[in-house]
Amino acid sequence: MSDLESVPMLQLSEAPLIPWPSADGSRVPFEVFTRPDVFAREQEAIFRGPVWSYVALEAEIPEPNDFKTSFVGDTPVIVSRAEDGSLHVFVNRCAHRGSTVQRQTCGNARQHRCVYHQWAYNARGELVGVPYRRGVAGMGGYAADFDLRAHGLAKLRVASHKGVIFATFSPDTAPLEDYLEEPLLAAIDRLFSRPIRVLGHMRQRVRGNWKLYSENTRDPYHAALLHGFHATFGLYRTNQKRKGGTDSARAHSTGVTYGDDWRQAGRSGNIEQDKFVTNYSLADPSLLEGRPDFNDGVTVSITSIFPCLVIQQIMNTLATRHIRPKAADDFELYWTYFGYADDDEAMTATRLKQANLVGPAGLISMEDSEAIELIQRAIVRDGQENSFLEFGGLQADLDKDRQGEATIRAYWRYYAGLMGLAPAGGGA
Ligand code: FES
Ligand SMILES: [Fe+2]
Repeated sequence: MSDLESVPMLQLSEAPLIPWPSADGSRVPFEVFTRPDVFAREQEAIFRGPVWSYVALEAEIPEPNDFKTSFVGDTPVIVSRAEDGSLHVFVNRCAHRGSTVQRQTCGNARQHRCVYHQWAYNARGELVGVPYRRGVAGMGGYAADFDLRAHGLAKLRVASHKGVIFATFSPDTAPLEDYLEEPLLAAIDRLFSRPIRVLGHMRQRVRGNWKLYSENTRDPYHAALLHGFHATFGLYRTNQKRKGGTDSARAHSTGVTYGDDWRQAGRSGNIEQDKFVTNYSLADPSLLEGRPDFNDGVTVSITSIFPCLVIQQIMNTLATRHIRPKAADDFELYWTYFGYADDDEAMTATRLKQANLVGPAGLISMEDSEAIELIQRAIVRDGQENSFLEFGGLQADLDKDRQGEATIRAYWRYYAGLMGLAPAGGGA
């Protein structure tokens, strides 16, 4: 039986798991971040539902038989390139008795061999070898009609756009380009317009709910308030010119910030903030030196693709961030840093130096996971109480208001729809 068939269909006619307080997404009950049954339903309704989940970059598996282990929701998968260059994603769980098959994070392997009883699978996830198939000394073995083809690893659908690989469990998911839509496609095209080169990875475990990170990356206005480095060294000011957009379903979000100066020396937009420290200076100012990759004046670009991908450009540091949910109160952030294949040495050095801005201990990002954990610790009780999302006003124009919380409200409306949650009282 394939993995797809084994997933029970979500019963949307069931009573909603939790009362959903508002159709406009301006109130989100805290229990959506804490309850294991909500997490379990997300795995079915979202991560095995009609969405495309980011799993890897093609540049991470450039050669035949290259692979990377990844996740779709909390399900482990192997992302693999077969001998003919085709891409494959299959569940990293042995068809024999369920062991993890591939235990490395990445590598090159003609076969993925399960350590437990040595069942072996090829780069397409097909079972190609079983020890003692005919038995040993007249014992064990399998029946004569045992068919290797019936015991492969469960396959997902795969699609790649500009080398960004997505997978889905659902046969009903729309084609990738229709799922992403503009302006998300344009945002991906901009950063992946030239061949890339992977520079490295960082991993970070956050003791919080994965959706808090989805909110965080749809919320530009915390950037100058929470992140002291931003405010002090002027990398980002609330009054900078910004532009952004979403798809028609309002699932995704993309936004860019324009810098009037590559090094944002002007600090006037941060003057009333307590994080603004006038007498700090960088011991190594070269951290903020670089040169524009594009001629569009954009210094920061953050694109959040539902449900689990963030693509960033912060000055010259480029990365994908893969949100990997582990439990209601636990997720991993997996960062893949990249540059362009034709970068010179100086540019590569700049990108690596600026990688210190983000990641687990990043000068402008370490506070994000801390803020998420501060929330998670405080909401262990009183799950019916709500977060409050009205910044920018409920009538904000989503295509124009790039500072407020309209994008987050839209995210919650989309989420509630997928999860079969309805407003309390049966409203719209
Ligand atoms: S569980 Fe994998 S070979 Fe037995
Ligand atoms: Fe942040």
